Amino acid sequence: MHIDIISVVPKLLQGPFDHSILKRASEQSLLEVRVHDLRAYGIGVHKQVDDYQFGGGAGMVMMMEPLVNCLEQLKSQRNYDEIIYLSPDGLTLQQSMANRLSLKENLVLICGHYKGIDQRFRDHYVTMEISIGDYVLSGGELAAAVLVDAIGRLIPGVLNDETSALTDSFQDKLLAPPVYTRPANFNGMEVPSVLLSGHQKNIDDWRYEQSIEKTKQRRPDLLQQYE
Ligand code: ADE
Repeated sequence: MHIDIISVVPKLLQGPFDHSILKRASEQSLLEVRVHDLRAYGIGVHKQVDDYQFGGGAGMVMMMEPLVNCLEQLKSQRNYDEIIYLSPDGLTLQQSMANRLSLKENLVLICGHYKGIDQRFRDHYVTMEISIGDYVLSGGELAAAVLVDAIGRLIPGVLNDETSALTDSFQDKLLAPPVYTRPANFNGMEVPSVLLSGHQKNIDDWRYEQSIEKTKQRRPDLLQQYE
């Protein structure tokens, strides 16, 4: 998969993809992420990328021209499956969305700043709008990093143990059960004995019950969809 990210603060995206699972994905050529500085497409000597909003009001709006020029330059090199704008008023990111996107070849992620981007760009170029939750970040970069992480780890071949993504929270609309590692007894705090029993059916049943119980307590809304 190839992901192009358009940002006015590309430095914010230095780092998140250079470690752990996403690093391995790029080393295996399963995922390539490129960050593009929108400022390079800015207008005039000041490389302007934003302007006052028509109708008045506080906050600048990201202009059409730099965005279109940057996107057209990218489009001249690849066909994109989705052009995604990260915005608090997008569709809330769900595991099912990440699953679907992990099967795509080429994505563009556009990070908004200030008051956001000109609506005409959203209407004519953007194919999907994603929010990572009901709160407002100072820009779309961290949201883009979250989205790349959520997608990247699902790309076939990226995780060592292919089944481990399948047992994540949300993958089957239940929260994941608790996990434990050695030692079995730490200062008197013991691991549930069933996990040490070696009886796989009992272990699976216990994990399932724990998942149901945790979901009931914390996210009953998920359980309603599950039933
Ligand atoms: N930009 C600012 N806040 C955001 C959010 N919650 N999700 C996605 N992009 C954003």
